[in-house]
Amino acid sequence: MIELKQLSKQVNSGRNQLTILHPLDLVIPAGQFAAILGPSGSGKSTLLGLMAGLDTPTTGEVILAGTAITRLGEDALAAFRSRNIGFVFQAFHLVPTATAVENVQIPMEITGRRDAKKRAKALLESVGLSERAHHYPAQLSGGEQQRVAIARAFANEPPILLADEPTGNLDYANGLRVFELLRRLNRETGTTLVMVTHNEELARTADRAITLRDGRVVLDNPKVSIEPFPPG
Ligand SMILES: Nc1ncnc2c1ncn2[C@@H]1O[C@H](COP(=O)(O)OP(=O)(O)OP(=O)(O)O)[C@@H](O)[C@H]1O
Ligand SMILES: [Mg+2]
Repeated sequence: MIELKQLSKQVNSGRNQLTILHPLDLVIPAGQFAAILGPSGSGKSTLLGLMAGLDTPTTGEVILAGTAITRLGEDALAAFRSRNIGFVFQAFHLVPTATAVENVQIPMEITGRRDAKKRAKALLESVGLSERAHHYPAQLSGGEQQRVAIARAFANEPPILLADEPTGNLDYANGLRVFELLRRLNRETGTTLVMVTHNEELARTADRAITLRDGRVVLDNPKVSIEPFPPG
């Protein structure tokens, strides 16, 4: 479960305080697949970064599976993150000098899993990339790289998976495939999945769609409304 309590983010821009995220209360139950929608600059990536503990809020708390991560020190936060949170970015962020299977192994080596190699192979198989295990990222297509990134994000069986426009750099067919994969893994593993997307057609199949505008939640629907964005 993800709980946000009065979470906000402000930054200084020159002499002005700029509010990127207004104080927000939100609960995402365990196992839910929530899509985050909203125009460019509405605060989606900021929200996801705060949920992941990659960024610090100005006010409020992020509570993940009962742990207030906003109160953890740097080392405790890093340890918590590697065990509990998978993150998939728009740009795949694979290690270029490591093969596909090595990329998937890295997070498990950090947490000291003994079956890292075996599990990395199995994960690549589950994303349909057994044949590509020994290829380097540069030898893979965008869709394949993103599938490796997803296998890596699932390596430590995180209860929470956060994905920021994971299909944003992919063509329609590959985007759909990556989306289907995330949804399947969400169902099969019970991982709580929060995904930022611009694709409302895909978001409509999520359990819930949360729409941001100017740093505020303006719609929070079990399913996306037919109206694409609220007027104004
Ligand atoms: N460190 C920062 N300093 C100043 N402004 C920032 C900072 N980080 C984000 N912003 C601003 O905050 C707003 C929200 O940014 P954010 O990246 O969260 O938007 P987004 O909804 O993810 O947009 P996109 O769909 O384009 O990815 C933007 O106006 C952005 O310029
Ligand atoms: Mg963004």
